[in-house]
Amino acid sequence: MAARALFSAPPGLYSISIPPLSSLTSRAHWVLLSHHLHVGPLSSSSSSSRRRCHYRACTDESKGPTSSDSFVLTTPLYYVNAPPHMGSAYTTIAADAIARFQRLLGKKVIFITGTDEHGEKIALAAEANNRSPREHCDTIAQSYRSLWSDLQIEYDKFIRTTDQKHEKVVEDFYARVLDSGDIYRADYEGLYCVNCEEYKDEKELTENKCCPVHLKPCSLRKEDNYFFALSKYQSKMEELLTNNPEFVKPSFRLNEVQSWIKSGLRDFSISRASVEWGIPVPNDTKQTIYVWFDALLGYISALLENGENPDLQTAVSSGWPASLHLIGKDILRFHAVYWPAMLMSAGLGVPKMVFGHGFLTKDGMKMGKSLGNTLEPTDLVNRFGADAVRYFFLREVEFGNDGDYSEERFINIVNAHLANTIGNLLNRTLGLLKKNCESTLPFSSTEAAEGIGFKNTVEKSVEMARHHYENLALSSACESVLDIGNAGNLYIDERAPWSCFKKGGETAEMASKDLVVILEALRIMAVALSPVAPSLCARIYAQLGFTEDQFKSITWADTKWGMLPAGQKTMDPKPVFARFEVKSEEELQEAVSKAVKSSKKASRTQGMVGA
Ligand code: MSP
Repeated sequence: MAARALFSAPPGLYSISIPPLSSLTSRAHWVLLSHHLHVGPLSSSSSSSRRRCHYRACTDESKGPTSSDSFVLTTPLYYVNAPPHMGSAYTTIAADAIARFQRLLGKKVIFITGTDEHGEKIALAAEANNRSPREHCDTIAQSYRSLWSDLQIEYDKFIRTTDQKHEKVVEDFYARVLDSGDIYRADYEGLYCVNCEEYKDEKELTENKCCPVHLKPCSLRKEDNYFFALSKYQSKMEELLTNNPEFVKPSFRLNEVQSWIKSGLRDFSISRASVEWGIPVPNDTKQTIYVWFDALLGYISALLENGENPDLQTAVSSGWPASLHLIGKDILRFHAVYWPAMLMSAGLGVPKMVFGHGFLTKDGMKMGKSLGNTLEPTDLVNRFGADAVRYFFLREVEFGNDGDYSEERFINIVNAHLANTIGNLLNRTLGLLKKNCESTLPFSSTEAAEGIGFKNTVEKSVEMARHHYENLALSSACESVLDIGNAGNLYIDERAPWSCFKKGGETAEMASKDLVVILEALRIMAVALSPVAPSLCARIYAQLGFTEDQFKSITWADTKWGMLPAGQKTMDPKPVFARFEVKSEEELQEAVSKAVKSSKKASRTQGMVGA
């Protein structure tokens, strides 16, 4: 953000710090225009007593209306310039896994997602598609919802920034910030990237003056705008990070945020004179509110129930502050610097944590709508199913770091982990149980595990999985669950129950106990992996003889050893996860041309029918 101030405001009216002259660039700078600059803070109907009241609210609300048994988490609100791609799906898959885990712990979860629909970028996209902005937003917002359904995302709230209730919350928020004396008017000149919806510092740009993320040229803009006095929050932001080192995660991103703050916070423009598609600035309909100053509020307006009084205070009392904002690293500054300062200005509590994950890349470049190098998530789900897609990205990409996609790796991982380690183990154990025990457990899992060390291994691994989930280390959580499967496969191979059954007597009894032990381990894996691969885990539970309702009511306490009772009937073994074939380049070509031929044939047939 390139906000540069040259102020000569009367003392006492502004408390905005002036950045050192050495940090000024020639092209991006603010200019104070005394003839139309409102000197001193603007005000809605401000009175200092009202302002004090907001700050009191802050003290109460920052303790949080949310209790320790609630967990409010958010994904970013996605731009609707184009349909979702795998990069946008990634955050939502991770958020869904975390939400499911927190529900297993018994927390009252509010999982918020939605779409960011205002601003220049969206208006341009609508125009390019020959649609009105409203029509365009409706279409793309729907494509997000339908992808979330394909990926089995169980969100609680879907907020659109064009929802009426949201607009009302933004207006209330703007009024509070205005009352705090943190909004003023000035001229701005700088280089703007429409895809980021952000002014850029010249030194951030590539050699040919392009945005480093989107590789598109930035345009020089000069506008009369309203500004948010971020610089006033310099010391409060420093304090926030010092007192809450957990505020930004992973910790290496905290360093990045600290260094931005250290370099001096600069005020930023929160309105646009040139953009019509947005929420009008209260008391100045010639300007619309800057898309970020609008969208961030979606995290609060989403909390409103339908039909509830759509005001900021009601929304806040329904669950603010959030426990966790999950975002990609490119929007960290907005969430970890601008947003908490905005909230402080409005007298509201700040979120507990902002987690900035890495990028999914293709050939090392960020996958994105603007670069056009995306991976189509619906195609992936259609070909491989939601469990495989969810598992691969959460297991393969360490949450926080970047990760490159390759189809070969995708197929190898899901085959090895889901089809072999889990699926085969379940299938062969149930096969042996059918053959030797009529698919009925001869012992409870507690009896079967007496004196068996394998039980300890399972207990330790599942405890590790919980620890990793709690720390948002989703890949490690998957790994710990899979450790149980690996140990189970080793155990069954060492004990060779198939040959022990043949010996009869006590040896056969031991073999039947071994089967129960393995099935109990698989049951525990199903509970512990359910946040990541919910359908697969439901199928495992069903194969073990539980009802759908029993699976739906599992909690993390069900990872405790000993839930399989003697006499439980299991189902006939049926593979819970089918293997995929890795196709060579030629095979892929062949499959594509076959598909083309058959679609030509089908259209010829249709033509004949039509004739
Ligand atoms: N609209 C803003 C967010 C406003 S939140 C109040 C926005 N939208 S976005 O659609 O451009 O990006 C949404 C999220 O998707 C960001 O967290 C971004 O990091 C993430 N991703 C977009 N491409 C990505 C990858 N290739 N990989 C991983 N995540 C990436 O920014």
